[in-house]
Amino acid sequence: MADKSLNEIRSTFLKYFEKNDHKIVESSNLVPNNDPTLMFANSGMVQFKNVFTGLEKRDYQRATTSQKCVRAGGKHNDLENVGYTPRHHTFFEMLGNFSFGDYFKEKAIYYAWDLITKDFGLDKNRLYVTVFHEDDEAFNFWRKIAGFSDDRIIRISTSDNFWSMGETGPCGPCSEIFYDHGDHLKGGLPGSKDEDGDRFIEIWNLVFMQYEQVSKDKRINLPKPSVDTGMGLERIAALLQSTHDNYETDHFQKLILSTSEIVKKKPDQNNLSSFRVIADHLRASSFLIAEGVLPSNEGRGYVLRRIMRRGMRHSHLLGSKNPVFYNLFETLKNEMSGNYPELNRAESLIKETLKMEEEKFLILLDRGIKILNDEISKIDKVLPGDVAFKLYDTYGFPLDLTEDILRNKSLSIDTKKFQSLMQESRELAKKNWKGSGDAAVEDIWFGIKDKLGATEFLGYETNQAEGVILSLLKNNKEVKDLKSNDEGMIITNQTPFYGESGGQVGDTGEIISGDFRFEVTDVQKKLGDLFVHYGKVISGSIKLNDSVEMKINETRRNDTRAYHSATHLLHESLRRVLGTHVTQKGSLVEPSRLRFDFSHMKPISEDEINKIEKFVNLMVSKKTDVKTRLMTPDEAVENGALALFGEKYGEEVRVLSMGDDDGKYFSTELCGGTHVKNTGEIGQFKITSQSSIAAGIRRVEALRDKQLEDFLKNKEKLLNQSSEKNEELIKDLTKQIIGLGGKPNIDQSDQKLLIKNLTKQLETLSVKVILNDKTKNQIKDEEIKGTKIRFQKVDGLPTKELRKLVDDGKKQLGEGIVVVFAFKDDKVGVAVGVTNKLTDKFDAVKFVKLSSEIIGGQGGGGRKDFAQAGGQDSNKINEAFEKIKSLI
Ligand code: ALA
Repeated sequence: MADKSLNEIRSTFLKYFEKNDHKIVESSNLVPNNDPTLMFANSGMVQFKNVFTGLEKRDYQRATTSQKCVRAGGKHNDLENVGYTPRHHTFFEMLGNFSFGDYFKEKAIYYAWDLITKDFGLDKNRLYVTVFHEDDEAFNFWRKIAGFSDDRIIRISTSDNFWSMGETGPCGPCSEIFYDHGDHLKGGLPGSKDEDGDRFIEIWNLVFMQYEQVSKDKRINLPKPSVDTGMGLERIAALLQSTHDNYETDHFQKLILSTSEIVKKKPDQNNLSSFRVIADHLRASSFLIAEGVLPSNEGRGYVLRRIMRRGMRHSHLLGSKNPVFYNLFETLKNEMSGNYPELNRAESLIKETLKMEEEKFLILLDRGIKILNDEISKIDKVLPGDVAFKLYDTYGFPLDLTEDILRNKSLSIDTKKFQSLMQESRELAKKNWKGSGDAAVEDIWFGIKDKLGATEFLGYETNQAEGVILSLLKNNKEVKDLKSNDEGMIITNQTPFYGESGGQVGDTGEIISGDFRFEVTDVQKKLGDLFVHYGKVISGSIKLNDSVEMKINETRRNDTRAYHSATHLLHESLRRVLGTHVTQKGSLVEPSRLRFDFSHMKPISEDEINKIEKFVNLMVSKKTDVKTRLMTPDEAVENGALALFGEKYGEEVRVLSMGDDDGKYFSTELCGGTHVKNTGEIGQFKITSQSSIAAGIRRVEALRDKQLEDFLKNKEKLLNQSSEKNEELIKDLTKQIIGLGGKPNIDQSDQKLLIKNLTKQLETLSVKVILNDKTKNQIKDEEIKGTKIRFQKVDGLPTKELRKLVDDGKKQLGEGIVVVFAFKDDKVGVAVGVTNKLTDKFDAVKFVKLSSEIIGGQGGGGRKDFAQAGGQDSNKINEAFEKIKSLI
């Protein structure tokens, strides 16, 4: 029978446990959202941590998963070994089965034995197991179930056979299954001194979760004994494909073959490590980027950058001068996206990030390697720490990369010195590290959620509803009642209040009953769907089981939802104008503004901003209905819905579609937020600022409707303020000019030049000040018999500025006639402009001649599209304008 592929082996494992009443649960994210102490998920049980301890309940007691894991950075770090051994990986998949207080040792051993000897067909004579030295129970079950003689069940007393998640958390004795790859390989049985060889390889770890380590010296029993197992998919695949080397499995061979085609080099004994490193690091990098981790110089982003750069150095070693990784992604996607659709969803982000990082790094690499080679020629054995630091600091060489380069030359690094030089920047990085994942959920909510279940949210349909009080809290403790002036929290069976999520802020409003009034200042969702209303009792009192009336602040919600809908239109517009690599990285939707963070490497140009705003405003002006549908996540993605990477969605998701793009929806997104019924409710939209908040992440802020009007008014005020500043500047310049005139020791020609420059500045400023002053610069646009006409009158402006004002006016009108009068002292100037298309009907020369006569001038002249004249009587300006109007 042909060997099973890695994908088939994963599915055999999951199906075996499904057949035995386990629920197949999706892998959780690599970036854990329930553990602030962990950098990346490093085993299958991480997502079930709170289920083991009883804090969290699921609707199943048996589960099976194939969990994405990364062991690079943090406590488990295999990075430096990858490529040089047959089994180390930065990214791997851990297969596991779990019992949450259901079956225990006997069944766990039975299932394991049944699967590996029947479905996987392993030869019983090649199998050995270990048990924790005190665990007679496990010992006896192995004897009974596997029929092992005592010498095949090895008792181990070290921590190797007592598994704990970390310093604290669920733990228990474990039993490991080993496979003998044959005496052609070196290595001894577990517990022997040469146990680390390649002959006897651990393939499965069965942990009998029994305890919870609550602190360093305190261990308590779990509510119910449970099971957690872990089997490395890559390892078992190797075994089932008759090799002890993970990199010789079908999956890795495909990646290696692709690499070989791209770098045009065949793997051989000398370069094999490089091929392995590339295959492994491509996997880790792609999966991390798919979850929105981007290369940076701190935290998780730095671990990613180390992995990427180490990999990219090996593609360089294979002789490639061009980026390789992004071209390899296609093969990885074909191999793994069936099980991990995030690779499809994030394809453009992954490729773009890989390409940019490699392009950047290849430039640094050439220079850095040169420096390193120079230094190597000067040393005997140890590379000075400051050279390693310089490579790190200036050329972006992580320490493990430099070590990797020195490895084949049997050289080492003075890491002590390096570390001391790193100290400062490390301190800084630590300070900036904001903790991993979300903050741990406060324990109290687990109990309450257990007791009460989820709150039903009614707010999609209604702004006001009745509810029954299920829980009251004061000072974070459950109480029987709340009285006047108490600050506290209220939980009801159902609510019209939106709980903060998806960037949209929680609702405010009131909860009332008789004379009881509670002002709701915020609503938060705990454990996904428990709605907690925060606020203060204004009057009266309330107790458990009372019925209440719940009303949200409608104006605030209407504004908020309009901003939420605007955010969707903005997101899609960004993708259309900037490209589909744009992915949401965060958002804030408030009643008075929106903020949107997304992946994009460059600043957005003025032209692009205009296009983006135009898209949004077009969708608003089309006034089309917004459609909400409920679907499974898969259906939603099939419908082209944008999903957020790293978000977990339930079995049923809301899909929001809005805007009209030639009969199709303009934007479709998975979203639990509240939205307008019709895009017209959004109102005029404008981006008010953009900035960069981290490498590759940009932030835009935007306003709509009323807030936008206010903003524009304020801006005008600011402009006026700045004209006050300009006036100060004018005074200052004038003083300087006068001062210069009285300085005899300055060279004459210098003095002239200086005065000329200052005078020019002064003139420009004065013009600015006048044009900004509404009392001095009056503009009136009218339409007469279908022709637009502008009348502008400026007090105090030199007549040489007239031409520019006429040109500006023409531009602003599009088509029409612009008449501008400027006057200063007893000099009046008039200029008239006619846009090209209208010169058949109207003549600028005729208009200025007429005006000039009225204001007491001498005629003037010009062409049909622009003419200018002078005069002396500024009191007759209005009369002259009326005359022009009468001729249209
Ligand atoms: N949690 C156990 C391990 O990672 C199964 O080995």
